[in-house]
Amino acid sequence: MKRLAVFVSGSGSNLQALIDACGAGVLAAKVVLVVSNRKAAYGLERARLASIPALYFPLKPYSDAGRSRAEYEADLLDAITPHSPDLLVLAGWMHIFGASFLGQFPRRVINLHPALPGVLAGKDSLRETYEAARRGEPVATGCMVHYVVPEVDAGEVIATERVPVAPGEALDEFAARMHAAEHRLIVRAVGQWLAGR
Ligand code: GRF
Repeated sequence: MKRLAVFVSGSGSNLQALIDACGAGVLAAKVVLVVSNRKAAYGLERARLASIPALYFPLKPYSDAGRSRAEYEADLLDAITPHSPDLLVLAGWMHIFGASFLGQFPRRVINLHPALPGVLAGKDSLRETYEAARRGEPVATGCMVHYVVPEVDAGEVIATERVPVAPGEALDEFAARMHAAEHRLIVRAVGQWLAGR
């Protein structure tokens, strides 16, 4: 049984999809740790409800004390190591890891992103791709899971799902369909990783 550590900063609905898939035996894996850098992240509550160890680990005390991101990441590494994760899943995790941290987990850190490869990388991708599509620009909308490398939203792609903007669709409707697609995709991508692809 492979051990998953899931990193969240928000609602954790993708974390929930993974917890459910592991619980249902869809994935031969177990979520052994949830990490959040935001105290209010509902993902922490999801971890508590599922009796999964959770770690609230914010950057701010480090920056307030004049300590570096590298020091933060080194301490985070020390905190997660006892949980022996096989795979780190970044699911709405709003912190960009540096090369030193990532170097500890070659091809063992994956990220979910609400845009397709090569399309508007960045934290507002969902809204930006939606608006571009609504303007009639030839932008493909959807989501992907990719390996994490030090460059943002780069790294080999593991799985994608297209989510075209429907005619007249509002942003919140599009976002809801995107999230539903993400919940399928993250489970599929972890399944592919487990299968060694
Ligand atoms: C997802 O849309 C993901 O693509 C983005 O952050 C969101 C996380 O949602 N990076 P949730 O916290 O899993 O509900």
